[in-house]
Amino acid sequence: MKTLFIGQNAIVLKSIDSTNSYASELLRQIKPHDGTLIYTFDQQNGRGQRGNTWDSEPNKNATLSYILYPTFLQADKQFLLNKITCLAVSDLMAETLKSSDKAQNIKIKWPNDIYVGNKKIAGILIENTLRENTIKNTVTGIGLNINQTTFKTNINATSIALLTNATYDLIQFIERLCEFMEARYLQLKANKLESINTEYLQKLYQLNEWKNYTSNNDTFEGKIIGVSTFGKLQVQLRSDEVKEFYLNEIKF
Ligand code: BTN
Repeated sequence: MKTLFIGQNAIVLKSIDSTNSYASELLRQIKPHDGTLIYTFDQQNGRGQRGNTWDSEPNKNATLSYILYPTFLQADKQFLLNKITCLAVSDLMAETLKSSDKAQNIKIKWPNDIYVGNKKIAGILIENTLRENTIKNTVTGIGLNINQTTFKTNINATSIALLTNATYDLIQFIERLCEFMEARYLQLKANKLESINTEYLQKLYQLNEWKNYTSNNDTFEGKIIGVSTFGKLQVQLRSDEVKEFYLNEIKF
């Protein structure tokens, strides 16, 4: 693997409930190396955002977590970790789909889902431990659909295999993800915030499009115009008023 630290220390688990839970438990016991990678091809009780589950057929997909110590980042800037992780996963998608006409359909659905067209291909769960206004450590969990070709009908999911009609070596994907993740993490560490913010916005799903959104059982027309430093979604209403939403406050 061509990285300096991300994935250089790897813990491979035959089967586990959740790589994020495993990583958090490890952090309670020891101080793993910065960039430690934990992965399994049989995650049995994967966790998603908003208390959702993350289902993954055994031996078909990548389910992994990174342990990182972004002590250079203030706690109120923690959403940048979501941004760089989204960008790393979309970099990997762009490389994989570059020879197809689907590469331009790779989108980031706020706050951190990766979509191709109107279907979700990857989910991200970031769990930070804060100490005052600093980030003590972070567990960055990524679930990426690679070779799975059937999904429960109630979830709107796709995979690389479905998009390209081929199957892939999972380890190679994980190694490449580590490389993209490290490049993005170093971009953040070097404080290249303008390019991170611009690239995240360029890929944002439904940016500048009038669509229906639901908040507090109220459905309204709105247009996503950006994301605040704290990670809140900024939506312009027909009245020109701009409202900001946290994850559990808006649905689309
Ligand atoms: C979401 O879409 O809501 C986030 C899904 C995150 C899934 C990944 S799979 C590896 C890691 N371990 C978990 O339990 N969840 C994340």
